[in-house]
Amino acid sequence: MSDTPIIEVSHITKRFKGLTAVKDVSFTIKRGAITGMIGPNGAGKSTTFNMICGYYPPTEGKIFYDGKDITDKKAYDYTNMKVSRTFQIMKPLKNLSVLDNVVASAWFGHAAAKNERQAREKAMEVLQFTGLYEKRHVLSKDMGTPDQKRLEMARALATSPQLLFLDENMAGLNPAETEEAIKLIRRINESGVTIFLIEHIMQAVVSLCEEVIVLHHGEKIAVGTPDEVMNDPYVMEVYLGVKKEDADA
Ligand SMILES: Nc1ncnc2c1ncn2[C@@H]1O[C@H](COP(=O)(O)OP(=O)(O)OP(=O)(O)O)[C@@H](O)[C@H]1O
Ligand SMILES: [Mg+2]
Repeated sequence: MSDTPIIEVSHITKRFKGLTAVKDVSFTIKRGAITGMIGPNGAGKSTTFNMICGYYPPTEGKIFYDGKDITDKKAYDYTNMKVSRTFQIMKPLKNLSVLDNVVASAWFGHAAAKNERQAREKAMEVLQFTGLYEKRHVLSKDMGTPDQKRLEMARALATSPQLLFLDENMAGLNPAETEEAIKLIRRINESGVTIFLIEHIMQAVVSLCEEVIVLHHGEKIAVGTPDEVMNDPYVMEVYLGVKKEDADA
């Protein structure tokens, strides 16, 4: 396995007209690991994701995938690079069954199922893996939030990614559902998929991530293990809203 990070982000900045959403941010995503990104609302997390995923290019800076410059690549080039993502706002095909949603991803993703039979086989495998098999005939719009989230994950997995981006995939889940989602993410990672996730639920970040990057007002303010960043006085102050002295008191 190569030591080159799967993703290297170098000094990226994103400006939307007057607003600087991301400012001079650099970090790497280690191959095979689960890396997290946290930060308050509006910190620039989704914007960072969108740039790495080729949704829009950075205003400044460079992005490398497997050591190759992909700064100006478009999202549709990405399936060829074995990168897949979920969106903060879920985008299932509402009037299709769970199965057809996943078949569509298997077919149009880079896994390049050559025919419908192959796409269906891949979909069945992914539905079993994600625990959605029993619900494969339910229309996606008729499912509750936890299953919708699972479906998002299943659709992403149907493209056989090497690298999976999850943007707040656990938002709206209760603690038991969160535990289930954590287990599924861990299993996906154990199957060899590198994961980069944005998450507000600290329980998930702490239990899953090897390394965490903290953004605040578009800037990277800390990076380290979950334990290191949670104990960083600046992170505690700006992100958790407590001063170190108060927390220790
Ligand atoms: N397409 C856009 N056009 C203009 N401003 C944008 C756009 N996308 C994001 N922003 C702004 O950039 C800043 C960062 O937004 P972003 O969505 O990246 O934050 P976030 O960290 O993902 O927040 P949240 O936790 O609420 O999802 C915000 O001020 C947001 O309003
Ligand atoms: Mg966001």
